[in-house]
Amino acid sequence: MSANILVTGGAGYIGSHTCKALKAAGYNPVTFDSMVYGHEWAVKWGPLVRGDILDGEALDAVFRQYAPQAVLHFAAFAYVGESVSDPEKYYRNNVVGTLSLLSAMRRASCRHIVFSSTCATYGVPQELPLREDHPQKPINPYGWTKLMMEQTLADFDHAYGIRHASLRYFNAAGADPDGEIGEDHDPETHLIPLVVYATQGRRGHVEIYGTDYDTRDGTCVRDYIHVTDLADAHILALRRIQDKDESLTVNLGTGNGQTVREVIRAVEKVSGRPTPAKEGPRRPGDPPGLYARADKACELLGWKPQFGDVETIVGTAWKWHEKHR
Ligand SMILES: NC(=O)c1ccc[n+]([C@@H]2O[C@H](COP(=O)([O-])OP(=O)(O)OC[C@H]3O[C@@H](n4cnc5c(N)ncnc54)[C@H](O)[C@@H]3O)[C@@H](O)[C@H]2O)c1
Repeated sequence: MSANILVTGGAGYIGSHTCKALKAAGYNPVTFDSMVYGHEWAVKWGPLVRGDILDGEALDAVFRQYAPQAVLHFAAFAYVGESVSDPEKYYRNNVVGTLSLLSAMRRASCRHIVFSSTCATYGVPQELPLREDHPQKPINPYGWTKLMMEQTLADFDHAYGIRHASLRYFNAAGADPDGEIGEDHDPETHLIPLVVYATQGRRGHVEIYGTDYDTRDGTCVRDYIHVTDLADAHILALRRIQDKDESLTVNLGTGNGQTVREVIRAVEKVSGRPTPAKEGPRRPGDPPGLYARADKACELLGWKPQFGDVETIVGTAWKWHEKHR
């Protein structure tokens, strides 16, 4: 019988793609999601349990029913701007929620967790590409919640032997290449879907925030990593922390940054349509460049992104959004 894996936030964007990868790798993904931002249609590869990670009894019940071998922890709020205007919501859901999950894991003697961290824990880069040992100084509450969760996991490893993989994602992008699931955030704040919506005519235009940065074309550079590559890295990380019984922290990015204009050009090329775009001023708090040094994940996990090229990434996103207009 295949092992159960508890996937918090499994009805969300990255969680649902990882459930597909888990199933393909021979596991049974059990989604635990409050459905605040999740989609029922995205839960296709195992059962859906509706519940909040802040609810210890609901967690105990799911651990009792499914006896999961490990946890993949995606559940969190992730809107940077909202975390600035309403930090309580973020500290409660992300930090207190993770503590509640870890307590339930202890009660159930479940000892392995893969955690969705982020490049937002680094803050403004002092050096690029960003290495895992770069100082972590977040510049918004969202980034702080994730850094606090990383620290909590490190302390729980030391004190209780709960092993973790903290995976610091850069910009998750694209959709399942088979077109079964894709990205559907509401509200949407990520660049690629926003460019796609503008190109499809579903939004008036896409805003380019800042065209005078010291980058190759004046616009911000970000590291877009395909969601299927992220999903695969979770399986490798899970196996590694279970086999070695030790924790790890790695960046998940391609190491190649793309500018905002390059993303727009890629969408125009893939779609064969022009993208209405407007140039505006810089947004406060946006560093000019954020891209990973990605070697550690390759070395430690034997992971290699398959969808490195931005046109391929954008192509899967375009296909998904055209099918689900
Ligand atoms: N999307 C990115 O580019 C990116 C980058 C870095 C890190 N991350 C992190 O990856 C994770 C997944 O991101 P995503 O883009 O798939 O987000 P998402 O919003 O699509 O998925 C998160 C899911 O968690 C659920 N959830 C939230 N709080 C919950 C709670 N208290 N109890 C149970 N379920 C809860 C939501 O309903 C949603 O289905 C998040 O932790 C996010 O911070 C995302």
